[in-house]
Amino acid sequence: MRLFSVRLIVSLIVGITLVSLSFSYYQVVAEKRTLRGDMERRAEVLGESLGGNVEKTWGAGSNQGMQRLVQRFGNREHLIGVAVYNRQSEVIAMTPELGKMLPDPPPALTHAIQKDHEESSFVKLGNTPVLIFALPLHRQDELVGGLAIVHDASFIHTQMIGVWRDAFVHVLAQVFLIVLITLLIVRWSIGGPIARAAQWMKGLRTGRISASQEMPNLDMFRPLAREVATMAESLSQARNAAENEARLREAGESMWTAERLSLQIRTRLEGGRLFVVSNREPYMHQRNGKALNVVVPASGLVTALEPVLTACDGTWIAHGSGDADREAVDAQDRLRVPPEDPHYTLRRVWLGKDEEQGYYYGLSNEGLWPLCHIAHTRPIFRAGDWQHYEEVNRKFTRALLEEIQDTPRPVVLVQDYHFALLPRLIKEQRPDARVAIFWHIPWPNPEAFGICPWQRQVVDGLLGADLVGFHIQSHCNNFLQTADRVVESRVDWEHFSVLRQEHRTMVRPFPISVDFTGDEPGENNNHGFYYLERPALLRSLGVEASFMAVGVDRVDYTKGILERFLAVERFLEQHPTYQGKFTLVQIGAPSRTHIKRYHDLLAEVEAEAERINWRFQAGKWKPIVFLKRQHSHDEIAPYYRAADLCLVTSLHDGMNLVAKEFLAARGDERGVLVLSQFTGAARELRDALLVNPYDIEQTASAIRAALEMAPEEKELRMQRMRKVIREHNIYRWAGNLITELCEVRLDKEEDVTPNLGVSVSAA
Ligand code: G6P
Repeated sequence: MRLFSVRLIVSLIVGITLVSLSFSYYQVVAEKRTLRGDMERRAEVLGESLGGNVEKTWGAGSNQGMQRLVQRFGNREHLIGVAVYNRQSEVIAMTPELGKMLPDPPPALTHAIQKDHEESSFVKLGNTPVLIFALPLHRQDELVGGLAIVHDASFIHTQMIGVWRDAFVHVLAQVFLIVLITLLIVRWSIGGPIARAAQWMKGLRTGRISASQEMPNLDMFRPLAREVATMAESLSQARNAAENEARLREAGESMWTAERLSLQIRTRLEGGRLFVVSNREPYMHQRNGKALNVVVPASGLVTALEPVLTACDGTWIAHGSGDADREAVDAQDRLRVPPEDPHYTLRRVWLGKDEEQGYYYGLSNEGLWPLCHIAHTRPIFRAGDWQHYEEVNRKFTRALLEEIQDTPRPVVLVQDYHFALLPRLIKEQRPDARVAIFWHIPWPNPEAFGICPWQRQVVDGLLGADLVGFHIQSHCNNFLQTADRVVESRVDWEHFSVLRQEHRTMVRPFPISVDFTGDEPGENNNHGFYYLERPALLRSLGVEASFMAVGVDRVDYTKGILERFLAVERFLEQHPTYQGKFTLVQIGAPSRTHIKRYHDLLAEVEAEAERINWRFQAGKWKPIVFLKRQHSHDEIAPYYRAADLCLVTSLHDGMNLVAKEFLAARGDERGVLVLSQFTGAARELRDALLVNPYDIEQTASAIRAALEMAPEEKELRMQRMRKVIREHNIYRWAGNLITELCEVRLDKEEDVTPNLGVSVSAA
């Protein structure tokens, strides 16, 4: 920077000086020419008038008359003197001053007499620059002599020096000002931002700050900074991955990262491609005035499947539910994603209002959802909904078949209860495809499932898959028992598989998780650091409290939100010392609100919070803060970090990722997890305080136990649970699922020929 400034200053000085001096030079030359011209003109005028008088006096007597005449003209401005010469250039009359300076006739005079023509020349007499103007004299047309008029030209020289001096002062002032301004601009607009950028980059490099953190004001370097941020992020990811690898090698552990998953997928697929089908899409386009916004639904699934699809340039097929989704696709309803760095294809499937109503709201969420979650909300089965469900499953199958038509032996991963019929529909057309379906919700026992009028079709559809995945073994067992009862099949309990119509379906648990590898920013912070966030967080909610619990859920009757509120009420009743001190912040994202049960539940949850608050609240404190809106991961993270405990009280839950997100957020190894025993997560997180959410007293006691637990105990439990989710993260989930699918031996593997181009009828 210093060398740059010196170079800039020297260049500016040389440049400005050269330009200014050139201008000054031309100014001096022009000025000199003007002054000399003026002087010559004055000499000429004087010569005309004096010459006339001398000619009249010529030959009229003595030289004294002529001498008097020249002396009379002698005292004019800048005039040194005049002299009259005869034709032989001998002096006839001369002013005395001139006599001392001009002993001989000047050449200009001699020339003027010889050529009979005026002549002027600037010469030096001694040290004095002078103008000698000479003109011939006539008497009756005969050349008789010459007249020399000598002016002092030294003032021209003096004036030129003045001009040069002024120019020099100007140059100095200009150089000073321009250099000063340039230096200030360099400092403000280049030096300052560069210094800030360097600090910021150093922070990124050393991992003190994350690239997602607000970058400083970098003026014109902002575009560059964005690139650097992306680079820094990749670098830090690479460094973390390398560190992890090293750590793992040393510890002999097997840890999963996005990079390892990508590598694994490439090896397993052997150049093949992966196709994912889900109801929710990974990127939604929404119109906001003139702007087209891309929304990423807060879902762990995107995190897990993106590295997989990226690794093999796969395709994700999903319902295009954004209001501007159609504007973003090509003629084949496809677009490349992620939008900022496209690596795989998103194929959108469009659904009409009736289809969405029957398939999504109806059969999926009023039928199968309450059927599979034993939460005592009665499922609703409508024949019309079932028809839509079948139709939409066929529609998605057609879209998938189009996508895989040029891919031999594709690998297809179907997600969730929206697509129970898809595996069989796909296999009928493409027996060479490897198909897995992951059922993200619980599978109840056969008696409970038996109330579904279409249980046979659902089970048969699923058994079309090569692999059916659930979160936990007991869901697998329930499914195997159900299959055993409702369809003609043979269950192999030793290998957890079902043989139906000569097709074998493996049934396996794959506990889903979060993208936690232990190298997230904020790890290894001082213990208790995060608690500092709490007062500010509560203040922003307009509440004062010393203890804080957090709950994060979609507002769904399976989540046990009302039971949680009742437990808070009971806890405050039993332990009045916590009144005025303990607050539950409940983040509740409204969900599926077109369904009456969900709509009513939202109102019930609000009313219950209101009732309990009214009973206890005092001053700036209240027991429950209900935040009714969708929050992003970044918005939720501070609540996780600031809470003393996290309450997960689902009445029934396939896994529950909130429990794992809470643990991942606790880099300080503090905080207690109170977890429903009816979640899939409870099977892995044995160090949580496990509760039966229906038992209000028990949950109330767990809140107290969490608040009063010794710090060492909290730390130990947190460390153990974080180890579980670090080793069983979402990359492991995806890696195991796809590895298992790729290892499945297809039926009659030698002669499965793709049924390319066959379509599924829309009827
Ligand atoms: C559950 C389901 C997912 C679903 C999510 C959100 O986790 O297993 O398939 O995407 O809830 O529900 P939504 O109906 O809004 O997609």
